[in-house]
Amino acid sequence: MHTDQLEISRRDLLISSAAAVAVTGAATAAAAQTAGEEMALTSKLSLTVNGKSHAIEIDNRTTLLDALREHLHLTGTKKGCDHGQCGACTVMVDGRRINSCLTLAVMHDGDQVTTIEGLGQPGDLHPMQAAFVKHDGFQCGYCTPGQICSSVAVLEEIKANIPSHVTGDLTAPAQVTPAEIRERMSGNICRCGAYSNILDAIVEVAGTRA
Ligand code: FES
Ligand code: FES
Repeated sequence: MHTDQLEISRRDLLISSAAAVAVTGAATAAAAQTAGEEMALTSKLSLTVNGKSHAIEIDNRTTLLDALREHLHLTGTKKGCDHGQCGACTVMVDGRRINSCLTLAVMHDGDQVTTIEGLGQPGDLHPMQAAFVKHDGFQCGYCTPGQICSSVAVLEEIKANIPSHVTGDLTAPAQVTPAEIRERMSGNICRCGAYSNILDAIVEVAGTRA
């Protein structure tokens, strides 16, 4: 091939490549714009919290914890680590305990949520709340709402025969033993170290229930 022809071919190739890149870029930008226009940033959802129905519109990135605290102003549920490490944010959703910092509110449309405010109130305490007070199951109290929600759910889990890592005999009914309670409560951290008194409170309520 002649050198001039080779040069022209290279020039043509560069021009056509640049044009292709420009077209692709424009198409990508247009697609992104369309997606952005269509993507909903908020969602409407219905949450039943402590027996009361709430219709809220919320940023899709909002955790259930922030929805409870910042939108519904139920500040009994505490934010400790915000990373699923401490259990301070424990609430019950449809009867099962979860870390509310690890789940998005939009995932709970139609769900029933129970927080510490829903378990009992001053003058009408839940037996577990009363037992924590009786046994001094707290010092600063920051972890306490999560501890109490978890404790209530733990007794329900044992009652439902759900095994834990320390359950020895999976064919026998689950027992409320200190080892079972310690294991099941291991996700709830207390910086004040009120563990022995928390255990006493749970054992008493379990005994009362039995
Ligand atoms: Fe949710 Fe710590 S705040 S686990
Ligand atoms: Fe203070 Fe548990 S009572 S962190």
